Amino acid sequence: MAKVLVSDSIDPQGVEILRQVAEVDVNTKLTPEELVQVIPQYDALMLRSATRVTKEVIEAGTQLKIIGRAGVGVDNIDVAAATRQGIVVVNSPEGNTIAAAEHALAMMLSLSRYIPDANASVKASKWERNKFMGAEVYKKTLGVIGLGKIGSHVATVARAMGMKLLAYDPFISKERADQMSCTLVDLDYLFSEADYITLHIPKTKETANLINADVLAKMKPTAKIINCARGGIIDENALAEAIKNGQIGGAALDVFSSEPLGESPLRDLGPNVILTPHLGASTAEAQVNVAIDVAEQIRDVLLGLPARSAVNIPGLNPEVMEKLRPYLQLAETLGNLVGQLAGGRIESLNVTLQGDLATNQSQPIVVAAIKGLLSPALRERVNYVNASIEAKERGIRVIETRDTSTHDYSGSLFVQSVGSLGEHSVTGALLEGGEIRITSLDGFPINVPPSNHMLFTLHRDVPGIIGKIGSLLGSFNVNIASMQVGRKIVRGDAVMVLSIDDPLPEGIISEIKKIDGIRDAYTVSL
Ligand code: NAD
Ligand code: MLT
Repeated sequence: MAKVLVSDSIDPQGVEILRQVAEVDVNTKLTPEELVQVIPQYDALMLRSATRVTKEVIEAGTQLKIIGRAGVGVDNIDVAAATRQGIVVVNSPEGNTIAAAEHALAMMLSLSRYIPDANASVKASKWERNKFMGAEVYKKTLGVIGLGKIGSHVATVARAMGMKLLAYDPFISKERADQMSCTLVDLDYLFSEADYITLHIPKTKETANLINADVLAKMKPTAKIINCARGGIIDENALAEAIKNGQIGGAALDVFSSEPLGESPLRDLGPNVILTPHLGASTAEAQVNVAIDVAEQIRDVLLGLPARSAVNIPGLNPEVMEKLRPYLQLAETLGNLVGQLAGGRIESLNVTLQGDLATNQSQPIVVAAIKGLLSPALRERVNYVNASIEAKERGIRVIETRDTSTHDYSGSLFVQSVGSLGEHSVTGALLEGGEIRITSLDGFPINVPPSNHMLFTLHRDVPGIIGKIGSLLGSFNVNIASMQVGRKIVRGDAVMVLSIDDPLPEGIISEIKKIDGIRDAYTVSL
């Protein structure tokens, strides 16, 4: 039975789902060193934000097939290392959207009305009504940086509270921003005009320290910043300094450059600063959502099914995946076939989607062909996650073409390898029931199903040649299951495809090549 390690606390409903298919160990107390030690025995790892899945952990996880992040951000996982090792990384892109958006809104209102400090004051038996004079958010300008899932929900609710909305997100269209009544502006304008600024972006090279001393100097003295996105987007020392000097009005932070927050000047700044311990996703609803979402994906992958929110394989929704599944198998088979026919070093792989197939999402089909091409050499080390990287690292150029003109079958796939020993191509199609047919080989029309062991010859179409091959195979005790010849013209060149029951014995290919009229012969095991 597969084994899953749950290394951060997740909702029990997620653990129950994992238990349907695996033995599950929940251990939320592992040190980084202990994690490296135990990980080799696990097929899957499920975590939240506390566990750091470093390259070292991934390299030690030789059995790992999937890492599931019960949340959005995968910045605590070395995704590049996982991809290289063929490990699927999944997350829950929407499970905690509302929770995080509501936390940002709660932070904004708390900051405007000093709720945390007022509460602490009453609990300390004080009654300081003058000290906590707040401000309304109604008719104030909210600058939303990052108008994705969380930013959009914040904008929608803020709009309903009567706020004016400015937004900065280079990847969002004006139409989308208009739908949320947001005016798309550049960052400098947003910084100088906003009364409240809320961050809903990932931490990337571009966004690290986005809010720094220079930027803080551009803001209104009353401006308040909310960060429920990621630590490190704000320079915390510069922020503390700006609040202390009255350069800006305050800040509410849920996330920090280092968590748990250690020594920090932000702790000493009074009611204008609110700090929460990364609580954005901490609602009962969100934790159930993310646990179920990610556990289901781990269960599916362990059962050999696709994951719906993999961050490191072609993004496909389950319906598209279901529709493409037979074509992925076709692509993998053809890739495998041309890879074996190529024999030597492969320089490029051309994949052409023909007819109706050309209207489909091509990336997964191309990846499947690459996987097939590399699998004879890399075996189970190559999969949908790392196939493209593996091809790139081997200097194999992958060319993808679409040809919508109809061919013999409504949708077919042409795969060609170009390598040190020449070019080989195969075309394949699916019959109505999803059965694979190889419909051409090196340009010769054939119509054969793939079989475990096959022999291909290129020969002169002259009388007697088929018989000679038959007798030779018979003399080596090779049983032929089926045979087909494809030719373009009578007595020209032809190909012969034989399905045989067992792998060809050593040395037989060189014997076949000695037969008069045989130009070449190849054996393939699929
Ligand atoms: P999302 O991917 O839906 O949205 C992110 C948006 O940021 C996208 O629209 C993208 O175009 C935009 N963006 C990317 N780079 C940008 C840049 N340089 N400048 C401006 N915009 C940029 O993600 P989401 O689900 O809305 O999550 C937003 C953030 O919130 C993430 O960092 C996520 O990890 C974090 N998050 C935190 C908590 C928490 O507990 N505090 C909970 C959930 C999510
Ligand atoms: C996330 O990225 O989903 C959040 O950081 C929430 C979390 O997992 O705590």
